[in-house]
Amino acid sequence: MLATSPVATGEAHITKGTPMKATKWWQNTAVYQIYPKSFNDTTGSGTGDLRGITAKLDYLKDLGAGALWLTPVYPSPMVDNGYDISDYTGINPQFGTLADMEELIAEAKRRDIRIVMDLVYNHSSDQHPWFIESKSSRNNAKSDWYIWRDAKPDGSAPTNWRGIFGGSAWTYCAEREQYYLHTFAEAQPDLNWENPEVRAALFAAANFWLDKGVGGFRIDAITYIKKPAVFEDGTPDAADGMVSVHTMTANTPGILDFLHEFRREVFDGHDIFTVGEANGVSVAELPDWVGENGVFSMLFEFAHVLVPYEEGECWSKMIPWKLTKLKGALSASQAGVAKEGWYPIYFENHDRARSVNYFFPNGGDTRLAAKALATVLMTLRGTPFIYEGEELGMTNVRWDTIESYDDISSHGQYELALKEGFSPAEALSFVHFNSRDNARTPMQWNTSEHAGFTTGTPWLPANENYHTINAAAEEKDEDSVLSYYKQIIRLRKTNPVLLSGVYEELLADNEQIYAFSRTAGNRRIVTAVNFSAEEAALPAGFLKGVRLIGSYADAPSTVLRPLEAVVYEEEVK
Ligand code: NOJ
Repeated sequence: MLATSPVATGEAHITKGTPMKATKWWQNTAVYQIYPKSFNDTTGSGTGDLRGITAKLDYLKDLGAGALWLTPVYPSPMVDNGYDISDYTGINPQFGTLADMEELIAEAKRRDIRIVMDLVYNHSSDQHPWFIESKSSRNNAKSDWYIWRDAKPDGSAPTNWRGIFGGSAWTYCAEREQYYLHTFAEAQPDLNWENPEVRAALFAAANFWLDKGVGGFRIDAITYIKKPAVFEDGTPDAADGMVSVHTMTANTPGILDFLHEFRREVFDGHDIFTVGEANGVSVAELPDWVGENGVFSMLFEFAHVLVPYEEGECWSKMIPWKLTKLKGALSASQAGVAKEGWYPIYFENHDRARSVNYFFPNGGDTRLAAKALATVLMTLRGTPFIYEGEELGMTNVRWDTIESYDDISSHGQYELALKEGFSPAEALSFVHFNSRDNARTPMQWNTSEHAGFTTGTPWLPANENYHTINAAAEEKDEDSVLSYYKQIIRLRKTNPVLLSGVYEELLADNEQIYAFSRTAGNRRIVTAVNFSAEEAALPAGFLKGVRLIGSYADAPSTVLRPLEAVVYEEEVK
């Protein structure tokens, strides 16, 4: 069972007042997220590499990306594809060398693109020398670098917490005759941030990368670093008798003290951005995290991507949702950073299914769906994050057996669904819809074998639709998702209203259309997107002025056509 954040209600959130102007480089650009393992393989190994990213810099520049966030490229046993790090200042030989990384940073810089690293500081790999030493005895120099606890009197785990990938969050270690805590997989032991030596070592590693010239950091799972003073059982939330570790430890009071220190010791004084992955931080708390005296530049919160869930992120417990819930979540986030702070807008990342399937579960034209989401992504207030392949409209895969899936959380969720009494076919259908592998299939470059990703055997098969959905074909097609992305990114970058304008939600109760305005001075931009597969009526005179962009060739009349997205600009008094 994955974790949750409170989801906003569907009421209209109107932001008034003078908002912060977008003056920083990272507020005025689009960030592109790369999953290096699946991006571009230059060696035929079947996994992507750093040189493969360097080789595609011109493609990324042409798209309009100003920063590339790489998911972890450090040495790692790859139990969780790099989120289990065994050396914080090295490069995984699978991806290349430190020299390749330096070349990537330099080549990107020449194109005015910055490289953003992923810091995985809640946990390390169980193969990190720190952990190997820590587990060796109860009295070694690193004995309290991780979270160790004695068993309950009956020998069972110290608490009934379930790890985010399923199963107990505790694993027994015979050498110490104690359990260690892992919020995620057994191979990802949680670091003990209470120990100042741990913090100093982590901050030193981040400074190492700053010295290499990186343009920022995405900070993984950061809401879990502070643990409660007392560890106790929680009320079970599923048939396994356990409670999600998220419920028990996310965003524990005192966490901001650690993060202020992090900011002082690492981020302050550098022209970089930081974006924390912050499941568990509510919109109301955003100012403390990203306001003027906050700790990060931006925070990924989860409310809008968790709309298909009542609570928690248990794949077997999805619920039907209405557009007003998604709109409410997005509007609440916009309101949360209206005066202070800045919002990272995203619909996809390496942990989520493809957005054209996830947000349009009833099907429909995926090209139009991709353009609809692109329109929202690029015209909301904040910095847009595009995940590799999203700009092509890549879609989910659907494999026949659970064994075909690599993703550790897909296996955990599958097992949990069986425990909850679902049949194997039902459990697999949850995996089809939610699996992180949906986003991790190879990037679709062209129609050659394996989508042009590798000349070897890809670590994960390419989605078979690469024959039609691929970068080479879309580059030549003016009506493609890729061409639309290029156009709308350019529009966003050159239009000051889209960069800084005040957000206001319109037609808040409408269950088909997401509409909002952005206003600055005497200019007002209106975005209107029909999320439904039917025509949707607009109020009379709703769209005024000039049509800046639209997903259909011609302008709409008084109705928006299925999945139609438009952006208009007008002068206001
Ligand atoms: C969040 C990352 O995005 C995800 O991919 C990873 O599995 C967990 N944190 C654990 O690091």
